[in-house]
This record gives sequence, structure tokens and C-alpha cells, in this order.
Amino acid sequence: MDKKLGPAIQFPAMDVLKQRWRNEWLWAFIRLFGRNIITALGATLTTTSALLILALAILGALRLYDTPYVGIMAFLVLPGFFILGLILIPLGVYWERKRATQCSGGAHNPPPYPQIDFNQPQVRRMAGIIATLTAANIFILSLVSYQGVVFMDSVAFCGTVCHTVMEPEYTAYLRSPHARVKCVECHIGPGAPWFVRSKLSGVGQVLAVTFGTYDRPIPTPVRNLRPSRDTCEQCHWPEKFTGDRIKVITRFSQDEANTPLKTILVMHIGGGNQGRGGIHSWHIDPHKQTMYIAVDPQRQVIPWVQVKNADGTVTEFAIKDGTLTTEQMATAEKRVMDCIDCHNRPTHIYQLPGEAMDEAMAAGRIDPTLPYIKKVGVQALEQATGPKPAALEHIAQQVRTYYQQNYPDVYVARRQTIEAAIREMQAIYRRNVFPQMNVTWGTYPNNIGHQHFSGCFRCHDDEHVSEDGRTIRQDCDLCHTILAWEEENPEVLQQLQIR
Ligand code: HEC
Ligand code: HEC
Ligand code: HEC
Ligand code: HEC
Ligand code: HEC
Repeated sequence: MDKKLGPAIQFPAMDVLKQRWRNEWLWAFIRLFGRNIITALGATLTTTSALLILALAILGALRLYDTPYVGIMAFLVLPGFFILGLILIPLGVYWERKRATQCSGGAHNPPPYPQIDFNQPQVRRMAGIIATLTAANIFILSLVSYQGVVFMDSVAFCGTVCHTVMEPEYTAYLRSPHARVKCVECHIGPGAPWFVRSKLSGVGQVLAVTFGTYDRPIPTPVRNLRPSRDTCEQCHWPEKFTGDRIKVITRFSQDEANTPLKTILVMHIGGGNQGRGGIHSWHIDPHKQTMYIAVDPQRQVIPWVQVKNADGTVTEFAIKDGTLTTEQMATAEKRVMDCIDCHNRPTHIYQLPGEAMDEAMAAGRIDPTLPYIKKVGVQALEQATGPKPAALEHIAQQVRTYYQQNYPDVYVARRQTIEAAIREMQAIYRRNVFPQMNVTWGTYPNNIGHQHFSGCFRCHDDEHVSEDGRTIRQDCDLCHTILAWEEENPEVLQQLQIR
């Protein structure tokens, strides 16, 4: 405010002056931005989107909306218009000057640049306007870039914006031990270079989603996933000694009584540079390095493995027959083994029908006293096909028909229990099969263990031999001690007092 003008009410004459000042202010603004249609358009775009961004940012801060689409509007789309407007403004000025030159048929030089003389009140005013607007722009841009980054790093953005695309991974993630870990903590990790890389590859992904050209299913493994050193090891560190862990696995047989069978393993996880044997002690020893070549894109077939020992010596293990040619050896990608080569499903954990039924029955969500429920359930889940609603209906029909035909009295007496089992089976299906993304049972292999996928046995198969005749061993007590194997009432369970 101009101090000389003083309070308006006391001096009516001043009021007139102030009015004039205001008009001139407005006039200067119009002269600055309204001279040319492009500049005017730019100013309008920038001003409107700035106001909208501010409004949405305030609504967001007050938590008045809860959909990622508003975030996309506020932090990705509107900023685009905002910046476009900012670019148009000087473009219009440039165009205007060029036109002025051309109108004179090139006879004149372009009009002279205005003299910047701060003794003239008009120049001072103009400078004031420009400074204020620039400050406002910088404020809005920094607000938008900060909020935009926070928003793009949110689980809601990664998991729900491209709904169909990420539905399988997001659904599996929500039920995993890492459901409270943000997507970006594993997929991007800390630091600027990977942040920039991820945003660059994000542009390609946005295009793929826009034009529907993305792969269905999304291929695994993730080719450019950041080494787990920088991601998993923010929270888990290799030196942590885990020791032996007892694992009790309950599986139900496919007989009338669904007889539960227990397998009890002592997992020799180890770790912590203790020098004792163990899975982690050996595999994540920082002084060793294991490298391998896989011949299929999913890294399931591994004909060659190399170990760099602590003393610098190197041992190579190769499949007995079926060695790679020299050319293949030279061109193949040699991958350094890290956490992900075993823990490739730490959070996107999909189940197979049998495993999922076992878990639901052990937890009591499906009543194991229903005759043949395991067998019927597994069959219904495996045979469900087509789009989701049809498949879910198919599961229900198949189970109902089975009991109507084979156990009519059970069907009548235990209708509620059967319907509850059906609802749980449908939930299992929904969590694991995503027809729109071509994700079905077993699409994503799990590399821990060796039950349904090769997993550890990709290398530990007694078939990979070194030059001195050693193999990568498959001894059943190498990774775990088997205390009981599919027993109905293992004695050891009572001894250990495990229920
Ligand atoms: C605990 C770490 C972790 C978290 C948290 C995580 N992921 Fe993953 N993600 C992985 C790993 C590991 C893979 C498999 C990498 C491989 O096999 O190369 C993967 C793979 C994927 C794939 C490729 C398809 C597949 O299943 O192999 C997509 C897509 C994906 N994640 C999306 C997400 C989204 C979306 C979120 C958040 C909702 C998320 N991830 C959270 C670790 C994580
Ligand atoms: C932000 C921290 C964080 C990051 C990053 C992280 N984890 Fe975890 N992880 C945890 C926590 C916390 C738990 C324990 C969860 C529980 O017991 O419910 C856990 C549990 C686990 C478990 C045991 C799961 C089970 O069934 O009990 C494994 C295996 C694991 N993480 C592997 C990984 C791998 C592999 C990565 C990298 C891809 C990773 N984690 C990244 C925090 C993290
Ligand atoms: C050679 C394969 C392999 C590698 C490599 C590996 N792990 Fe594991 N890890 C396992 C197995 C097997 C288990 C036990 C799983 C079970 O009990 O079902 C395990 C268990 C775990 C657990 C759970 C421990 C507990 O207390 O129950 C965590 C956490 C974990 N691993 C993290 C990691 C991290 C982080 C890395 C990388 C630094 C890593 N692992 C590398 C195979 C591996
Ligand atoms: C890419 C190949 C590869 C995969 C996959 C692999 N390993 Fe290994 N593992 C090796 C090699 C090579 C050795 C060292 C063999 C030797 O020197 O005798 C080894 C050694 C071990 C040892 C130590 C053996 C000893 O003599 O003390 C354990 C335990 C082990 N692995 C567990 C696992 C588990 C559990 C998995 C699956 C979750 C697994 N490994 C997956 C290649 C692999
Ligand atoms: C290289 C390590 C390794 C070797 C060798 C190995 N296993 Fe395993 N095994 C595992 C791991 C890891 C799991 C646990 C997977 C999980 O977390 O559920 C497992 C799980 C099992 C299970 C439980 C399966 C289930 O979920 O119902 C049985 C049974 C089993 N192993 C038997 C054997 C037998 C028999 C041998 C010898 C031929 C053997 N294993 C050799 C690593 C190994």
C-alpha cells in the first residue's frame, strides 16, 4: 500500500486518487497480459488452475475427499495447465513483437524494449505486479511438486489409480505381512537417482495404461527392480541372526473326513555370520557372491551357477548334460543372487486352490467337518472359469449340486455352513484370480520352498556339478529338519506343547 495515500475515509480527495491508482493498477495488468490473445489465454489458464489447485489442496488438507482421482487432478493434470499457461505468457509477448516487426514490412527494427526506470511510478507498479505474481507462482509450484511427490508415493496412487492393472498385486499385498509398507519402499527405495528413474519409467507406464498397451499379466520378475540391498535391507539386515524356526504346516486330505495332516519342519534359517550352517548364514553371507544364468524369462530354469567364495576362489556348478554354449555364456545375463531370488513373493502372495483351502479350513472359515469339503472346494476353484461373476456363480452351483446329489440330508441340515464355505471359496477366488489381467492359479511362481514350483530346487537338485564333482545338495536336512511329515497326530507336537 502506498503510505502517502493515508486512510481513505478521512480524506475524500484521497479516495479519488486511490480509485485512480486502482484503475491504473488494473490497467497495467491488462496492458501486461491482455495485449495479445495468447498471453491472455496463458494468464487465464494459469490463474484458473492455480485457484483450483489451491482449493483442492485445502480440501485435501482438511481430508474432505478420499479418492486418488482428485489427487491426479490437483497434482498432475492442473499443474500441466498451470505450466502451459506460464509458457504461453512470454510466448505471446514474443509473438506480439515479431508481428509488430512484420507489420512494418521489415522496414523497422522491432519496437524498442521498454526503458526500465524505477523513477516512473508505472514501472514500479509493473515490477510490483510481476514480483508478486512470480512469488505466488513459485509458492504454487513448490506446493504442487511436494504434494505431487507425496501423492505419487502413496499406496492409493500405486495400488488403485490404474485399477485393473494393479488389482492383482494390490489385492495380494493387502493381506500380506507387508501391508503397512508403502509400495515405493520396495519398488523405489531412498535417494534421488532411483526416484528420477522411477518417474521416467512412470511416464512410459502412464502411456501404456492410457492406450491399453500394457502386458496382461504384468510380467514377473521385475527386470529393473532395485537391488534388495537398498530396499529390503532398510528394515531387515543380513547380520541379524534368526536361528532355527519351527514351522507347523496343516494340510487336509481329500477324503470324506478331510483328515488333517501335520508336517513339522525346523527351518535352519540362521544368519548373522555365525559360521553355522543355515539358509541365510550361507546365502546372505556378505563375503560370498552367488551368480546364475536363467534361460527363461521367469528365471525358473537355471543351468549354471557360480559361487565366489570368501577367499576369492570361484566354483562353477553346471547341469550335467545341457551345458550352455560358449556363445550363450557370453551373451546371457548373469544375475547376482539377492533376497528377491528366494523371497520373490514377500507381499504379492498368491495361493493355489489346495493351499488356500487348507488355510481357510485350519482357521475355521470353512468347516472341516463337512464331508469331502476339501476335495469339492479344490475342484470348484480349479474349474471356475470366465469373467468373475460367472466364475463365482459357478463355484456356488458346483458345491451346492455336489451336496444336493451326494449328501441331501447334510445339504438340508447344514445349509448355513455350506453357504458360509461357498462365500469363503468365492473370496479365495477373488483374491487369486483376475481374468482381466490373465492372472490365474500359479501365474506367478513362488521361489520359497519346492512344493509347487521348483523354488530352491532350481539349483539344489543334485544335478548341478562342479569341476571337482561336488553338487548343489538336495539333502532333506540341509535347509530344514523334518520332525513330522504328513502325520495325523505327531508325537513331537505334544512334546513341544504346540497346539
Ligand atoms: C515388501 C516389498 C514390496 C512391497 C511393499 C510392494 N512390492 Fe510389488 N513387488 C515386490 C517384489 C519382491 C516383486 C517381485 C520382483 C521379482 O520377482 O522380480 C514385486 C512385483 C510387483 C509387480 C510385478 C508383478 C509381480 O507380481 O511380480 C507389480 C505390478 C507390483 N509389484 C506392484 C506393487 C504395488 C502396486 C505395491 C503397493 C500396493 C507393491 N508392489 C508393494 C516387492 C514389494
Ligand atoms: C519398511 C520396512 C520393510 C521393508 C522395506 C521390507 N520389510 Fe519385510 N517385513 C517388515 C516387517 C515389519 C515385517 C514383520 C511383519 C509381521 O510380522 O507382521 C516383515 C516381514 C518379512 C518377512 C517374514 C514374513 C512372514 O511371513 O512372517 C519376510 C520374508 C520379509 N519381510 C522379506 C522382505 C523382503 C524380501 C523385502 C524386500 C523386497 C522386505 N521384506 C522389505 C518390514 C519391511
Ligand atoms: C537362499 C534363499 C534366501 C535368500 C537369498 C534370502 N532368504 Fe530370507 N528366508 C529364506 C527362507 C527359506 C526362509 C524361511 C521361510 C519359512 O520359514 O517359511 C527365510 C526367512 C526370512 C525372514 C523371516 C525370518 C523369521 O524370523 O521368520 C526374513 C525377514 C527374511 N528371510 C529376510 C531376508 C532378506 C532381507 C534377505 C536378503 C538380504 C533374505 N531373506 C535372503 C530364504 C532366503
Ligand atoms: C541360483 C541357485 C540357488 C538357488 C535358487 C538356491 N540356492 Fe542354496 N546354494 C546354492 C549354491 C551354489 C550353494 C553352495 C553349494 C556348495 O558350495 O556346496 C548353496 C548353498 C545353500 C545352503 C548351505 C549348504 C551348506 O553346505 O551348508 C543352504 C542351507 C541353502 N543353499 C539353502 C537354499 C534355500 C532354502 C533355497 C531356496 C529358498 C536356495 N538355497 C536356493 C545355490 C542356490
Ligand atoms: C535347499 C533347501 C531345501 C532342501 C534341500 C529341501 N527343502 Fe523342503 N523346504 C524348503 C523350504 C524353504 C520349505 C518351506 C517353504 C515354506 O515356507 O512353506 C520347504 C518345505 C518342505 C515341506 C513342506 C511342504 C508343504 O508346504 O506342505 C516338505 C514336506 C519338505 N520341504 C520336504 C523336503 C524333502 C523330503 C526334502 C529332501 C528331498 C527337502 N524338503 C529338501 C527347502 C528345502
